[in-house]
Amino acid sequence: MGEHSDTAPVALTARGLTKTYGSGDAAVTAVDHVDLDIPGGTLTAVMGPSGSGKTTLVHLLAGLDRADSGQVWVGDDELTSLSDKKLARVRGRVVGFVFQGFNLIQTMSGRDNIELPLRLNRLPQDREWLATLIDMLGIERELDRRPYEMSGGQQQRVAIARALITRPRVVLADEPTGNLDTHASAQILSHLRTSCRELGQSVVMVTHDPTAASYAGKVLLFANGRVDGHITDPTPDAVLAGLDALSGVQR
Ligand SMILES: Nc1ncnc2c1ncn2[C@@H]1O[C@H](COP(=O)(O)OP(=O)(O)O)[C@@H](O)[C@H]1O
Ligand SMILES: [Mg+2]
Repeated sequence: MGEHSDTAPVALTARGLTKTYGSGDAAVTAVDHVDLDIPGGTLTAVMGPSGSGKTTLVHLLAGLDRADSGQVWVGDDELTSLSDKKLARVRGRVVGFVFQGFNLIQTMSGRDNIELPLRLNRLPQDREWLATLIDMLGIERELDRRPYEMSGGQQQRVAIARALITRPRVVLADEPTGNLDTHASAQILSHLRTSCRELGQSVVMVTHDPTAASYAGKVLLFANGRVDGHITDPTPDAVLAGLDALSGVQR
C-alpha cells in the first residue's frame, strides 16, 4: 500500500469508506468517504461528539460491518473483497476488538470469555501471556466469575484481555476505558502504548476522555462521519481545544 514517510509499514488503511443507515429522508451517513493511514506501532485516538460515527467507523475497520463503498486494508488484506471465511480468519487472528458494550458471553466464565478467540481460531493456549494480561488488568478474581457477577469496570478489563489474547497486530477499541477508574485506565493505556512501541502493534481507540487521548501519538477529530482534523502528540488541553473547535461544525 502506497509510500509512507514513516519507516513503519501501514497496518490499517481506509479509502473512501462510506456507510449509510436508512434511506430517503431518514438516511444517515454515519461514515462519509473516510481515508485513513494508520502506521504499524502507533496508538491513535478517535474523538468526536456522540453520534458522529465513531463506533460505525471502528466496526467497518474491523470488518464487523460491511461498508456501502470504499476499501479497508489490514496489512495486505483488503477486507471488503474477502470471502466470509477469509474475513473471519483475519478478524480472528489479526484484529482484536473491544466493544463499547463489552459483548461478553454471559454463560461463560471470565477465563472462558478471554480464551474464546484462541479456541475459535484454533490457536494454542499461551499461559504466560494470559498470566501477563491477568496481572496487567488485575482480573484474577474475575476468571471464575460470569459477566453478570462483575462490575462494568471488571467486564471491561475482561473484554480487553479477550481482545489482546491472540496478540493481534491491530487492536480496535470502542471507549475501552469508559468504565474504568483513573488508575486502572492509566495502567491499561500505558500498556497499550508500550505494546505499540515495542511489538509494533497498532491500536485505534475511540474515547471521550482527553487524558486517555493524550496517551496516543495522534488524535483524529471526527465529526459528521468525517475526519475533521487531527492533533499530533496531544496534551489533554490541546485535545479539549480541538474538540471545542469541532463543536462549531456540528450539524
Ligand atoms: N444500526 C444502526 N441503524 C441505524 N442508524 C444507526 C445504526 N448505528 C448507528 N446509527 C446512526 O449512525 C450515526 C453514527 O452512530 P455511531 O457510529 O454509533 O456514532 P458514535 O459512536 O460516534 O456515537 C448516528 O446518527 C446513529 O444514530
Ligand atoms: Mg459509539
